Amino acid sequence: MDLNLQNRIALIGGASGGIGAATAKLFAEEGCDVVVTYHQNGEGAEQTAEQVRLAGRQAWLSQMDIADAASVQAAIGLLPPAARHIDILVMCAGEAPVSQFSELTSDEWQRVVELNLNGSFYLLQACRPLLQQGASVVFVASVAGQTGVPLQAHYAAAKAGMINLTKSAARALAPHIRVNCVAPGMTLTDMGRRTAAGLPPDYAQQKLLLERFAEPIEIARCIVFLASPSASFVTGATLDVNGGRNLR
Ligand SMILES: NC(=O)c1ccc[n+]([C@@H]2O[C@H](COP(=O)([O-])OP(=O)(O)OC[C@H]3O[C@@H](n4cnc5c(N)ncnc54)[C@H](O)[C@@H]3O)[C@@H](O)[C@H]2O)c1
Repeated sequence: MDLNLQNRIALIGGASGGIGAATAKLFAEEGCDVVVTYHQNGEGAEQTAEQVRLAGRQAWLSQMDIADAASVQAAIGLLPPAARHIDILVMCAGEAPVSQFSELTSDEWQRVVELNLNGSFYLLQACRPLLQQGASVVFVASVAGQTGVPLQAHYAAAKAGMINLTKSAARALAPHIRVNCVAPGMTLTDMGRRTAAGLPPDYAQQKLLLERFAEPIEIARCIVFLASPSASFVTGATLDVNGGRNLR
């Protein structure tokens, strides 16, 4: 299936590693130029940009703290003219620390909500004037936002908020802009490996119909599909990409 993504511009919030980096590379292979945003990991962002260039497409680096509205606004304001026509916006930045529910502090709560949920809003608001007619937005939430997680209550609440924000934004921006969400299960990135380290070794076999965790490319493919004209009649939707986590 041709995804019809030639010569589009995709901006990925949080593309210095993991799912965001895999998504940037896949967009480039499908013919998109990519704005690679990052916060602290400049080296990872440069590696992502190199992958985009190796696919024959243009990459721009943009540093921003997505948990800070002013930082996002300033970075978007500094994009070069050629990158100021965004066809695809992906919000992939996230943080998922583990904390006992009884010990969770308001500072920890706020930091996680500020990046995952508020950051989704900040990035969308800052990019909105640059979104082209027919643009597509994809938020990366989590299965945690559907099930709740006792050791990551802040993260799960923020991801639930992203799933709901998807619906509000889809309503607000229709009919010219589609807004969707993917809700991945455990994925083998730095973040996923840290979380998996605290789980029993047979967790995937016990909890997932597919009995394994996801590779980043398996999430990236779903993001790219939702962003593409092939998903032209999909908006306000959340796509479960969790190996059957909710069915076992
Ligand atoms: N890995 C998993 O198991 C899993 C499961 C479900 C959902 N997710 C979600 O997928 C998304 C990507 O996660 P990942 O596994 O690739 O993690 P990762 O840690 O590999 O990547 C996180 C990305 O977020 C960026 N980031 C972090 N803080 C930022 C900030 N303040 N401003 C800007 N960017 C920032 C990083 O630069 C990096 O690119 C996250 O939203 C995460 O919640 C991951």
